[in-house]
Amino acid sequence: MKKDKYTVTAALPYANGPLHLGHIAGVYLPSDIFVRFLRMNHHDVAFICGSDEHGAAITLRAKKEGTTPQEIVDKYNGIIGKAFNDFNISFDIFHRTSSPIHHETAQEFFKVLESKDHFTKETSEQYYDEDYNQFLADRYITGTCPKCQSENAYGDQCEKCGSDLSPTELINPTSTLSGKTPVMKTTSHWYLPMQRHEEWLTKWIKEGNLDGVQQHDPKKWRNQVTGQCMSWIDNGLRPRAMTRDLDWGVKVPVEGGDGKVLYVWLDAPIGYISATKQWALDNNKDWKDYWTGDRKLVHFIGKDNIVFHAIIFPILLKTHEDLILPDNVPAYEFLNLEGDKFSTSRNWAVWLHEYIETYPEKIDELKYVLTSIAPETKDSEFTWKEYQVRINSELADILGNFVNRALVLTQKYYDGVVPELGTLTEFDKSVLAQMEEIPAKISKLVYDYKLREAQAEAMNLARLGNKYLADTEPWKLIKTDENRVETIMNIALQITANLSIVLQPFLPNTADKLSEFLDFKSTDWDVAGSSNLILAGHTTKKPSILFQKIEDEMVEKEVAKLEASKVVEANHEAQKETVECDDFMKMDIRTGIILEAEKVKKAKKLLQLIVDTGLDKRTIVSGIAEYYSPEEIIGKKVSVLMNLAPRKIRGVESQGMILMAENAKGELSFVVPEKEFEAGCEVR
Ligand code: MF3
Ligand code: ZN
Repeated sequence: MKKDKYTVTAALPYANGPLHLGHIAGVYLPSDIFVRFLRMNHHDVAFICGSDEHGAAITLRAKKEGTTPQEIVDKYNGIIGKAFNDFNISFDIFHRTSSPIHHETAQEFFKVLESKDHFTKETSEQYYDEDYNQFLADRYITGTCPKCQSENAYGDQCEKCGSDLSPTELINPTSTLSGKTPVMKTTSHWYLPMQRHEEWLTKWIKEGNLDGVQQHDPKKWRNQVTGQCMSWIDNGLRPRAMTRDLDWGVKVPVEGGDGKVLYVWLDAPIGYISATKQWALDNNKDWKDYWTGDRKLVHFIGKDNIVFHAIIFPILLKTHEDLILPDNVPAYEFLNLEGDKFSTSRNWAVWLHEYIETYPEKIDELKYVLTSIAPETKDSEFTWKEYQVRINSELADILGNFVNRALVLTQKYYDGVVPELGTLTEFDKSVLAQMEEIPAKISKLVYDYKLREAQAEAMNLARLGNKYLADTEPWKLIKTDENRVETIMNIALQITANLSIVLQPFLPNTADKLSEFLDFKSTDWDVAGSSNLILAGHTTKKPSILFQKIEDEMVEKEVAKLEASKVVEANHEAQKETVECDDFMKMDIRTGIILEAEKVKKAKKLLQLIVDTGLDKRTIVSGIAEYYSPEEIIGKKVSVLMNLAPRKIRGVESQGMILMAENAKGELSFVVPEKEFEAGCEVR
């Protein structure tokens, strides 16, 4: 078969949080399987990824964690990169868009397009925060959704009803920086006039035809991808701003660009190119070989990335003039978790790095389950129960059981030495014929991006082997027909050796173990299917158990962990914005003792207290009457916010505030020092 050249990319994850199983199932695992398969088939492949380190996703996270964008991207690039490595994802490079080579590459790219007049410059009014002297990125503006009236819609999207929005559509827009209403201010930006490209895009997407040359097979594109693209185009493409007023990102490299950076969705996909450049530098290659000529560019992405990879980036690549367009954009639908969407903010997630830390020996188990349920054509769902069932009844009972029987019986009967293949029965022949066909079936599925079915086909080989031993029962025959058993065991070992090849793309760690047991390794897909991979006389090793069964306890523990995050969410507000130490120190909080207490007339909730603060005896009105009677609190210790501006409540001037803890039911409790402290101790 003709060997192809591939550049395979996996969407650059934002370096603003760790990865969860949804990311893995729908981008990184399928791309890794695809690439491992290509390599075994001797294609020339570069597998490119890295972290996406610009844009509001990063600066907002930094604000939330009270730190700088640089610290955020360093932290998450580290966590994500390590998780990929531990999970045995075989990128050729995992790069970063904050690197100098990326900044140069993206700027150069921008300059080329600018000099060829592929951008227009337009002036518009945009929201501006006067307190912060800053234009507001869409994500920095919240307000009421014009479609569903939900109050916390973002400037680009309402998470409640899913509508795409623009900031000016929001009712009562508020800046998340100052909390104030932003003003409109004029600014100018570079736009990509996407409408200019509708015609060729349509032809290229629908027919695979570009400038009269057949570029890809449109039948291989997933329906959802073609469908989403055509719906964008049919609705009419519009100019899209390619620059932003921000200080975090790649600086706009042309005149008039001061204080502006490239739009993150312009800069990030160019990250694939800059990562390739770095990899080429490190490995004595020419990066251009990977982005020009008869090479197939394949972008693995999630469905929310389709327009960027199948419309916008192709426009950029084409207008740059010398670079190839994607051959395919396999986009994945979403994976849900135990009946709900994955959500970082609600902590409804199984985090990859946590899983790896807890179950370092169960990497392939997770890969197997995620590929089995991969959301290739529709959304799918991960549950711990299904995880258990698939591992126990498929990996352990079929694959593990077969391999173990084949190798253990070989130890027992022949001290591990592969016996001769004798005369074949019709049954043997049909089993070998089925074995022979499996690799080609897998290949066809992989080239069609049907990796879920491809893995199932590889498992069919284990099924075949398992059934072969169950049907022939060598453990019974050994007493009556030793010759026949030699043939059976030889065949069982050939099946095992074939498994060590066909499982490699999907379960590389398991395939390695098989190779070790067999003392046989081949990474050459072409030999898969052969019935004499290991010869009689070759010595195999004692196996160990491939897959431990998953106990109910583990499932219960993991489900309980998730449920616990639900409770946390129901009871507790998200953490407030970070404050500086100085801000906190402005508050004067001291311990006090309640000297007197009485009800405030006609106010159900209020008690009027006299409190000894160590400094003075002062009047404080407190909303605790539903939880404490005046009699029971005389002499009680409390914490007092001393320097709260005095205010009149029901005609009584309150000179401070009693600090209270409130539980999920809304009940109140005093917050007091746990030791016997006197009045007037400072709290900080
Ligand atoms: N960071 C984006 C996301 O997580 C993906 C970027 S892909 C790239 O949705 F092409 F832009 F790099
Ligand atoms: Zn809405």
